[in-house]
Amino acid sequence: MTRVCVAGAGTIGSLFAGHLARVTDVSVLTRRDEHAHALNELGLRVSGRAEFTASVAASSDPAGLDADLLILACKGNELEPLAQRIEGQFEGATVMTVQNGLGAEEIVGAHGDWPLLSAVTFMSGTRHGDTHVEYVLDTATWIGPYRDTTPDDARVVADLIVSSGLKAEAFDDLRPAQWSKLIFNATVNTVAALTGLPHDFHFAEGLLGDLVRGLVDEGKAAARAAGVELQEDPWEMNVLATQRGHAHRPSMLEDVEAHRRTEIDLITGALVREASRAGVEVPLHTALYRLLKAKEASYSE
Ligand SMILES: NC(=O)c1ccc[n+]([C@@H]2O[C@H](COP(=O)([O-])OP(=O)(O)OC[C@H]3O[C@@H](n4cnc5c(N)ncnc54)[C@H](OP(=O)(O)O)[C@@H]3O)[C@@H](O)[C@H]2O)c1
Repeated sequence: MTRVCVAGAGTIGSLFAGHLARVTDVSVLTRRDEHAHALNELGLRVSGRAEFTASVAASSDPAGLDADLLILACKGNELEPLAQRIEGQFEGATVMTVQNGLGAEEIVGAHGDWPLLSAVTFMSGTRHGDTHVEYVLDTATWIGPYRDTTPDDARVVADLIVSSGLKAEAFDDLRPAQWSKLIFNATVNTVAALTGLPHDFHFAEGLLGDLVRGLVDEGKAAARAAGVELQEDPWEMNVLATQRGHAHRPSMLEDVEAHRRTEIDLITGALVREASRAGVEVPLHTALYRLLKAKEASYSE
């Protein structure tokens, strides 16, 4: 049996922890004591596409936890302090990152020699509290090897996740999928956060549609120069998402509205850095990156 620990039980972490607890032993590493107490007392309720309450063993102290698979599910901007907390812990565990963007694996890898798996997730949910998450979009999590892991390791984890009732798929190389989502998020999340628009029809037509297409084209040029063949066309991902019927509010828009730090550095920041490394200019993404950093400065300084 694969013992799983989920560190960072927000929306995505709770969806993993709740479902996986139905098929294996699951512990949860929380940031706050009261979050761990509430989970131990009440369990973790999943509603929406599935309805159940799972038992998990939660703690705010990593020293009290052990696992074969450690899933890090905090936000990208919270990863460095979380990686510092788990340094020297979870010996023998494989660590899987699920953050949007690029570079999560390097941040974690600098704090320990655990084998690493990369993942990107397309599922979504709404967090109603420390012990209740609603499962909204039942799209898959994609998993691939990163450091000292093999495609088979990715398959074993994908199979475990599927057995728990979530969708997952393993890839021999995750980069084509990771880059498709990177370009999509760097474009859609950042434009939504700067304009206040949810991801609706404006992103696929007219003046804003032209800007979005320009951003996607820059991203595609950066991917080509980095030697990555995209899994999906980010422009088509954008158009399809705007046709789904409900206008999604990207988390970066919610972060800006709540005056929180965003995940811009691992998303648009990573795209700009990778483009520069590959010798490609991405002036539109560079401008959006600077504007979003200035937006953060307007409420955090
Ligand atoms: N939400 C979605 O629908 C969705 C969809 C696709 C991809 N993603 C990606 O998935 C990742 C996670 O997003 P999310 O929406 O699930 O985030 P979230 O709801 O904000 O949850 C993050 C969790 O991490 C915890 N945390 C932060 N620092 C920690 C630390 N040092 N130790 C232990 N726990 C810590 C937070 O604790 P507190 O509760 O104490 O703050 C919180 O519970 C992001 O990269 C996001 O872009 C999200």
